Amino acid sequence: MKKIIKILLITLTGVIVIISALGLGGYLYIKSFLFDFDKNNYEEIKVKSITNDKGLTFDDYNNNNLLDTYEDNSKSLEERVSDLLNKMTNEEKIAILKGTGIGSMLGFNSNGVPGAAGEIFGNKRLGLNNLYLADGPAGLRISSERKNFDKKLYSTAFPVGSLVASTWDKNLAFEIGKAMGSEAKSYGVDIILAPGMNLHRNPLCGRNFEYFSEDPVLSGNIAAGIVNGIQKNNVGACPKHFVVNNQETDRMKNNALVDERTLREIYLKGFEIMVKKSQPWAIMSSYNKLNGKYVTVNKRLLTSVLRDEWGFRGTVMTDWFGGGDTVESIKAGNDLIEPGTSKVLEDLEKGLENQKLSENDLNIAASRILKLILRSNKMNNSKNDNSPDLKYHAEIVREKASEGMILLKNDGILPLKENDIISLMGVTSFNIISGGIGSGDVDEAYTVNLDEALIKSNFKLNKTSTDLYEDYFKKNPVKKPVGIIENLMLMMDPKLLSQINYTDNDLNTMAENSDLAILTIGRNSGEGKDRVEKNDFLLSKKEKELIEKTCKVFHSKNKKVVVVLNIGGVIETHSWKDLPDAILLAWQAGQESGNSIVDILNGKVNPSGKLPMTFPIALNDHRSTKNFPTDGASSDMTLMFNKKEKPLSEQTKNNDFTIYEEGLYVGYRHFEKEGINTSYPFGYGLSYTNFDYSNIVAKNVNDTINISLDIKNSGNISGKEVVQIYFSKSNSSIDRPIKELKDFSKTKLLKSGEKAKVYFSLPISDLSYWDDEKNEWVIEKGNYEIFAGSSSSDIRLHLKNLKL
Ligand code: BGC
Repeated sequence: MKKIIKILLITLTGVIVIISALGLGGYLYIKSFLFDFDKNNYEEIKVKSITNDKGLTFDDYNNNNLLDTYEDNSKSLEERVSDLLNKMTNEEKIAILKGTGIGSMLGFNSNGVPGAAGEIFGNKRLGLNNLYLADGPAGLRISSERKNFDKKLYSTAFPVGSLVASTWDKNLAFEIGKAMGSEAKSYGVDIILAPGMNLHRNPLCGRNFEYFSEDPVLSGNIAAGIVNGIQKNNVGACPKHFVVNNQETDRMKNNALVDERTLREIYLKGFEIMVKKSQPWAIMSSYNKLNGKYVTVNKRLLTSVLRDEWGFRGTVMTDWFGGGDTVESIKAGNDLIEPGTSKVLEDLEKGLENQKLSENDLNIAASRILKLILRSNKMNNSKNDNSPDLKYHAEIVREKASEGMILLKNDGILPLKENDIISLMGVTSFNIISGGIGSGDVDEAYTVNLDEALIKSNFKLNKTSTDLYEDYFKKNPVKKPVGIIENLMLMMDPKLLSQINYTDNDLNTMAENSDLAILTIGRNSGEGKDRVEKNDFLLSKKEKELIEKTCKVFHSKNKKVVVVLNIGGVIETHSWKDLPDAILLAWQAGQESGNSIVDILNGKVNPSGKLPMTFPIALNDHRSTKNFPTDGASSDMTLMFNKKEKPLSEQTKNNDFTIYEEGLYVGYRHFEKEGINTSYPFGYGLSYTNFDYSNIVAKNVNDTINISLDIKNSGNISGKEVVQIYFSKSNSSIDRPIKELKDFSKTKLLKSGEKAKVYFSLPISDLSYWDDEKNEWVIEKGNYEIFAGSSSSDIRLHLKNLKL
């Protein structure tokens, strides 16, 4: 017996020793792989300002008491960068081509900006500061905890991308960007990893909420507004993910197979518009492959198209742990590898040694990064004060978010009457989803739920409805994830909230004791996973029954029902939309969600949002659904560290590769071409007032088409209208969509009876198509038709003969 115990003890000790050794080994490996792989650790650089004998005051970054060219602000950026390049060793140049690891992201680098997704190395010897790069599209994703600060430093949760696009307002996008940029500046973030602008190819993409639209003209213009707004603060924007990153499933290896015309006219187009209209400081290359090659190593895309054709003058960085071979990436024009690992450092060092990476390649990439550093606020005497105007930003969020909410249906119930008693139903009415999951998330101070917002606006809530929620909450406490691990877990499995049980008795009591019901349906999704059809795109059986029963009971007592959609992506609406009296698509509207919704419900704001994507009757109506992963599988995270290539014979459709067989026919282009009915068409959205369109005139002057038309508010309430301009080529000799969006504009607030002239001006090159044979843009001669619409299917004015 003793012997057995002895053997057991020895075995146990052995196991413990092995586990500890493995644990320690693993820890040391991870530490050296992801954290301590570079000697140039962060240290805040203190710079002296001195005045030289010519009376010139300058920042003496390298502490040599002399005015070096790179320290001289009167010199051009190019001269300053070239001086720096001359002063740097190859080792120092290599150091800045890759991030510093994931210390900041995990909050270890407490001197800097904890929670920032990445860093760019500066150079201590030359007095160059590290730069901080933080997500994201709906506000800064940084930690609110900061060393030496008692109070929390929260960021503002702005509305998600799809909501911003639903405003169809280029100026509003600029204002949102400006507020985001000023917050970044204040918190010491130098580059915001936003906007996300991949196209909504299919409703199931898990990150559609971060992105804008199924149409490149809408996406590109909204993105340009945001970039210009961010950069107004001398903070860089980094639009992403360039390009054709339209699914999350297997995003790190998926090979998107797209023909050249589709690539140019659909997937590159939005980026082209954005680059030309806003010249971002940086662009993030995407994880995926395109036609067999990782985008990061695609010189044609990153250099010939982006830089030579479009004139992009900024830096390209990889997505985190993404892309192909390190040296090939730099040579292709991808200047920065994020977040940086010991392997990347080794690759670059070896590359230079064996001359696979030339000094010229190294200098080109390094100079682009030096340009970023020299431009940054840190290098221009603007230190972070850590006190952004969060109150003002919250006001902006409240106001702008209501502009992107879309009234899908209104049978006369909205706006609500003052003092209405409301039965407030649905978990997300009390636990509103302010934004999506993953790098699009924000550590905000608070979120305004619908219950508190309604009460603040003097509505009364039916007690049975609030008691039922409280009961539910006691049994299912809803907790916001805290810290990186909980957030990662949620990212891997974005559980949809369960729904409150309402018995027939509850419904009857609520209907008897209130004036109406507001029922919220919520959805969430995020990075690393696509959505699925069942219980996500489609309502769950329980949700459907809830809508049916609520409408039946409330209608039987002559009471109305409003459904509020608190969602990030498209859901099915056709089968149930006839039941409620009104439907408001509120999206995920940021931290003031409840207030913005109530501003619409009570009529303080007249809804003016329009759909930036089609709401189909069925998922399969989208042609892309045939070639889209629909099983909701998680991305393979091991690919971050080990990119094994599968032999062709083992590759599976929609995981390893995705055929973009629908070509140009994404979204409304497909529905119109095939004559398929929609539940709600692209560009659709109601108002509490009506608008008359008249007097359209179009002229081609010096290859610019000038269009003007009149919009009159013919209803009783002030409101704004989004005017959409579509073009079509009559008798085209090539295959073309029926019509395509070419421009749009939102009017100012028009009073009842007020008229405004709306102007558009577009170069005729906007009408060109990509000619595969000639390999260039071509403008077809002949007749074009112009449509001015309130949606893609509600065309109010039609000009038939614009001759080109
Ligand atoms: C995402 C990017 C993000 C980056 C840094 C990646 O997983 O795809 O959008 O900017 O992480 O957080």
